[in-house]
Amino acid sequence: MQWWREAVVYRVYVRSFTDSDGDGIGDLEGIRARLGYLELLGVDALSLAPFYPSPMADHGYDVADPRDVDPVYGDLAVFDALVTDAHEHGLKIIVDLVPNHTSVEHEWFRAARTSKPGSPERERFHFRPGRGPGGQEPPNDWQSVFGGPAWTRLPDDPEWYLHLFSPAQPDLDWTNPEVWADLDKTVRFWLDRGVDGFRVDVAHGMSKPEGLPDAGGCRDDPRFDHEGVHDVHRMVRAVVDHFPGTVLVGQVDVRDDDAFARYVRPDELHVGLTYRLLECPFAADAVRDAIEDSFEAVAPTRSRPSWALADHDTVRPVTRWGGEARARAMALVTLALPGTVFLYNGEELGLPDVELPDEALQDPRWTQSGGTDRGRDGCRVPIPWEGTAPGFGFTSGEPWLPIPAQWADRLVADQLEDTASTLSVYRRALELRRCHPGFTGTDVEWFGAPQDCLAFRRSGSTLVCALNTGTVAVPLPPGDVLLSSGPLRGGLLPPDTAVWLA
Ligand code: NOJ
Repeated sequence: MQWWREAVVYRVYVRSFTDSDGDGIGDLEGIRARLGYLELLGVDALSLAPFYPSPMADHGYDVADPRDVDPVYGDLAVFDALVTDAHEHGLKIIVDLVPNHTSVEHEWFRAARTSKPGSPERERFHFRPGRGPGGQEPPNDWQSVFGGPAWTRLPDDPEWYLHLFSPAQPDLDWTNPEVWADLDKTVRFWLDRGVDGFRVDVAHGMSKPEGLPDAGGCRDDPRFDHEGVHDVHRMVRAVVDHFPGTVLVGQVDVRDDDAFARYVRPDELHVGLTYRLLECPFAADAVRDAIEDSFEAVAPTRSRPSWALADHDTVRPVTRWGGEARARAMALVTLALPGTVFLYNGEELGLPDVELPDEALQDPRWTQSGGTDRGRDGCRVPIPWEGTAPGFGFTSGEPWLPIPAQWADRLVADQLEDTASTLSVYRRALELRRCHPGFTGTDVEWFGAPQDCLAFRRSGSTLVCALNTGTVAVPLPPGDVLLSSGPLRGGLLPPDTAVWLA
């Protein structure tokens, strides 16, 4: 079986994981130092957020050079050492590809900025003259995902350039063969260094409709999910296929099942990241629907669903669902399911989102929305490992985002010792998922369950998972309890709790 089909992949937001040199920003050497922890946790792979040279307008998703390491994170030698060490710990390494856009500091964009309209330098991006008198209006009505128009005009220049995200992230023009050749080079560069796969950022982006029509006149969102994008995935997949055992994961943010299924055809992505559980309320019916939808989306393909409760873009589960008990319960549901599971660093500690003061906020969403959207920094606060504030073992300096003093009760060091901690529940769940014979079958079968509860088993297996999202305790389904997300009493499954039975 391909290793990722049942794997648990741990997403590392490099900036927030561990800082080895005291500058307050996590780095690759810091990850190396924590490989023992990740092995103990029991994950199969790490997925590293971008660590490439970047002015960090979007914390590395604005890539100035996709084939190097930003000095703040280390260098290529440290990266190579990390790959070697991770493999020695039995951990695979997945890195990000960011093919939809570059940074304004990428050499291509620097050249485009100083070149004339119509020059080959500009044809790697989407430069267009403005509309209206003096070209004062953007070329079309598209909005940036981060707020405001998706176009910025260069000073003293007749042209505007397209950026679906921040103005510091100009979109590449995927009708230009040079853009294809460069991605091919990047993919080979990291594969040659021994990575085990890629997470493709904005995998539904890249291709744009001819003529860049106004969104106002289109039935669907013209910015994303264009037929041409599938050729990009086929190109990358063809390269990846030369490196057996490597996986292509994509962030496929499309809601339509048929559209989603096209991304995981046999010659495209192996795994599509889905958002159904991430966006689901804590309610048994909704959770069941989200799980069923995820299976349906991949049903016409050979791919399996993937599952995630958290990522570096979304309010953490503890805050979203109103409490650690609920987040833990959902973790047991997720980890019982067949398919690839993606964890996000800190999820295993039950970390909540942090309400940061205005002056600490760094996400471009905050400034681009004119201060109406506080952005994603709240879920990116560094990991509290041990010791005391302000660094909590994350850094010997000042963390790039302040770690709340109350996180003294969330420390990795303490949770490792406490058998009732969230970390201990995750460790035990991962161990069972790895070793217990009940984790077979590629589908789930649902049982009847009391109101506000759900129960399923993996097809052909005796492993049963039950969840109670209601307000009253219900009788446990039959079977021996393997693990519960919280205390059980008197043969009952309490509210906000999930259980595994065999
Ligand atoms: C999706 C990434 O997850 C997010 O963090 C980033 O801001 C955008 N893509 C733009 O690259």
